[in-house]
Amino acid sequence: CGIVGYVGGQSALDVVVAGLKRLEYRGYDSAGVAVLADGGLAAAKKAGKLVNLEKELVDRPLPGGSVGIGHTRWATHGGPTDANAHPHLDNAGRVAVVHNGIIENFACLREELAERGHTLLSETDTEVVAHLLAEEFSSAGDLAEAMRLVCRRLDGAFTLVAVHADQPDVVVGARRNSPLVVGVGEGENFLASDVSAFIAHTRSAIELGQDQVVELTRDGVTVTDFDGVPADVRAYHVDWDASAAEKGGYASFMLKEIAEQPKAVADTLLGRIDASGRLTLDEVRIPDAVLREADKVVVIACGTAFHAGLIAKYAIEHWTRIPCEVELASEFRYRDPILNRRTLVIAISQSGETMDTLMALRHAREQGAKVLAVCNTNGSTIPRESDAVLYTHAGPEVAVASTKAFLTQLVACYLLALYLGQVRGTKWGDEIHAVVRDLARIGDEVERVLETMEPVRALARSLADRNTVLFLGRHVGYPVALEGALKLKELAYMHAEGFAAGELKHGPIALIEEGLPVVVVVPSPRGRSVLHDKIVSNIQEIRARGARTIVIAEEGDEAVVPYADHLVRIPATPTLLQPLVATVPLQVFACELATARGNEVDQPRNLAKSVTVE
Ligand code: G6P
Repeated sequence: CGIVGYVGGQSALDVVVAGLKRLEYRGYDSAGVAVLADGGLAAAKKAGKLVNLEKELVDRPLPGGSVGIGHTRWATHGGPTDANAHPHLDNAGRVAVVHNGIIENFACLREELAERGHTLLSETDTEVVAHLLAEEFSSAGDLAEAMRLVCRRLDGAFTLVAVHADQPDVVVGARRNSPLVVGVGEGENFLASDVSAFIAHTRSAIELGQDQVVELTRDGVTVTDFDGVPADVRAYHVDWDASAAEKGGYASFMLKEIAEQPKAVADTLLGRIDASGRLTLDEVRIPDAVLREADKVVVIACGTAFHAGLIAKYAIEHWTRIPCEVELASEFRYRDPILNRRTLVIAISQSGETMDTLMALRHAREQGAKVLAVCNTNGSTIPRESDAVLYTHAGPEVAVASTKAFLTQLVACYLLALYLGQVRGTKWGDEIHAVVRDLARIGDEVERVLETMEPVRALARSLADRNTVLFLGRHVGYPVALEGALKLKELAYMHAEGFAAGELKHGPIALIEEGLPVVVVVPSPRGRSVLHDKIVSNIQEIRARGARTIVIAEEGDEAVVPYADHLVRIPATPTLLQPLVATVPLQVFACELATARGNEVDQPRNLAKSVTVE
């Protein structure tokens, strides 16, 4: 969910609604606002996208005020209805609260409140907080103090922002796990789930820590822990360009972000390989001795980041000879994994806020493992709770389906694998020299792929009425196939599945029927050519059974030509780097196919960019 709070000299409603627009990618199944005005509190909320709320505000305007809060929701407890939308109010309508996260003990709190005569109107966990705040405020007389008292009674993960009509110059926020950032202005202050909500007003920000409460007035920001002990806060400068968070001429954020990939890849490499081809990852603040002694690497991640992890495994094991496991973060801690001081855990996350990944990394650290985050979002929770972080420099990624972040995650993982090899004294043979050289210019190769995508777009449009597309790959092409299928599911809402091509004959080949589109990612014919030959056989097998083959193969690979109904050329790269160029046509394919089906690519149904619940 996305949260905004404002106190200052401007119209709170204008600031809050504009902020919500920037946060809509965090959830968009309902939205609401509350403002303090004329000694009272006025609220509006609507199921559906933000435009529904905006229309409501035109039809039934709220009084003008300069203190307000807002929310854009991704439903957890209770479906996306008007009643379940935030803000939630107490029965007297004096306090309003918005929330991101899950309050795990809400059921018993709800019962207690009902026994004390409160009437709860929604199915949400959030509403209990409004009632508890009202109770505590009536004795404490201060909203920040009431918030501290309430937070101490809540279990789970939450960001809360509240206002009270009896303290009309104050906005209060609280944070446990889910993110909350203060924007520090002049004569005005802001609260938001991330800086994009207030970047148009101020570039000075304070990241709230775990279990902290913040009180904002026009001229002040006071932060304490849940017991009221004042906390040290340090403002930092936000250097993200505001226009970077806008579409800049593209029809969607996704198209813009696909186009930004050459730069994102180059930015992620910047300053990390020196002229002699050595890796200089000074920011990886894990002592070399620890990296040298590691006897196992475990990668944890979700969604697209998980696919980056699957590819990382090939590179890490091949270049460093350290065993590497890759696991979905949501599965990891619940199976009692074997971890110790010699385990290096790599947590990959674009947002740095994915709750499954955060919980997995906490578990790993509790067991003594060292955790290194690969993350795109500065100051987010996952890097802050890790022993070290290697930032990807993709810039803000707004489209829900990850594209440029994925490519930069791959780059970061290659850098890490090479760095591990360097620290551990892997012999820097010709192959690794070639990889480092090719990595340094891979941004240009991605650019070349982007320049040749028109036939892929035409093909995608021609397949808009199909129900199923399959994806096959071997070696690093297998996770690429999984990612291609995930993109199509996310965006086109089609049945799309990725398989290891060798596994085909063990089951999936039964799915092949006349005309079924099958995308095949072909490994380079150079290097591990045995893989190439095997996949050429796989293409023949499926074609013989009627499949319409869409073959992604290196320039100069002639062996595939007779069996390809559609041939997509990618530049020749070392085998392990091929995913950086092979994924791009699959992103373009999914984006175009989804658009042809009339879907909104930036905000696919049922999904959220940053999933801050387990
Ligand atoms: C959500 C998004 C995916 C993303 C995954 C992991 O499910 O919809 O696109 O890959 O979370 O997100 P993270 O921010 O941890 O990379």
